[in-house]
Amino acid sequence: MFKIIEAKFLAPGIKRFVIEAPRIARKQKPGQFVILRIYEEGERIPITIENSDPARGTISIVVQSVGKTTNLLNSLSTGDEILDVVGPLGKPSEIADYGTVVVVGGGVGTAMAYPTAAALKRAGNRVLSIVGARTKELVILESEMRAVSDALLITTDDGSYADKGFVTDKLRQLIDNGTRIDLVVAVGPIVMMKAVAEMTRKENIHTVVSLNPIMIDGTGMCGGCRVLIEGKSQFACVDGPEFDGHKVNFEVLVQRNSMYRDAEQQSMAEYQHAKEAQACTAHSCAVVPEGVHGGQR
Ligand SMILES: Cc1cc2nc3c(=O)[nH]c(=O)nc-3n(C[C@H](O)[C@H](O)[C@H](O)COP(=O)(O)OP(=O)(O)OC[C@H]3O[C@@H](n4cnc5c(N)ncnc54)[C@H](O)[C@@H]3O)c2cc1C
Ligand code: FES
Repeated sequence: MFKIIEAKFLAPGIKRFVIEAPRIARKQKPGQFVILRIYEEGERIPITIENSDPARGTISIVVQSVGKTTNLLNSLSTGDEILDVVGPLGKPSEIADYGTVVVVGGGVGTAMAYPTAAALKRAGNRVLSIVGARTKELVILESEMRAVSDALLITTDDGSYADKGFVTDKLRQLIDNGTRIDLVVAVGPIVMMKAVAEMTRKENIHTVVSLNPIMIDGTGMCGGCRVLIEGKSQFACVDGPEFDGHKVNFEVLVQRNSMYRDAEQQSMAEYQHAKEAQACTAHSCAVVPEGVHGGQR
């Protein structure tokens, strides 16, 4: 069992957890992730390690509620426990002194980009960060990103905070201003990473993206996380999750990620139903049979 030392919402539906995991904390490198399972019959989900504190024996993760397991996870509080936390998994980010690096984080992807941005800064790079969110309250880790960046540019889709627009608008401005860019690192929704990669391909700027296919075992055995890189199959859990953005087949990624949509939607509906009936707790989530919940179904 892995104890939650701190749990705090950073934004609606986005929660940061500090978890006791001394062995993972000692080994973690930027770009790596854990696979966790909340209760015995629960699904395994991959989550990036946002930070680690080897002295304290803790790691932190930032989780956005999108389906059953992330909703259940975000219902946990300080003092609760997570059944399994396996990691660190995946190849670490390639950290070197490239020169000027633009780090782009979209939504919860900002939390995934943060450790890499910090490591790139420590390695001597000039780090220009671009953080995007749909709206003001969903901008996360602003002060943390500012602390590891030479400049931080923020966009919101609706203009409720900083500049209205998309992260790609800021990247375009940097390119058009003649900023020398040696590397772009983009982490966020697939559509965002694809748009960044298309822009930088034309400018011949090396671009790394962090892919988020559905994962199961995280060890290269199940094939669940297969992605197509330059026409060749690779497993994001062991060969990635970071890949050259100009070589990724994003269409296949989108298609494979939507394969279980019906099952995911059903699972979420059952979770909501069970939650209303108070049948989901920190350690189990019994699906409530039809008709049990006050005859509403
Ligand atoms: C290497 C890696 C690192 C990740 N790091 C983080 C992180 O730090 N924080 C975070 O909040 N999320 C992260 N994710 C995404 C997270 O794993 C998914 O959001 C989660 O598995 C969804 O589970 P669920 O049961 O809540 O939702 P599901 O019901 O399984 O899915 C709900 C919705 O989420 C989409 N979805 C399902 N699986 C994924 C997935 N693997 N990636 C993206 N969307 C998915 C589905 O298409 C569906 O629309 C990461 C994914 C990978 C592969
Ligand atoms: S998650 Fe099973 S091969 Fe990658």
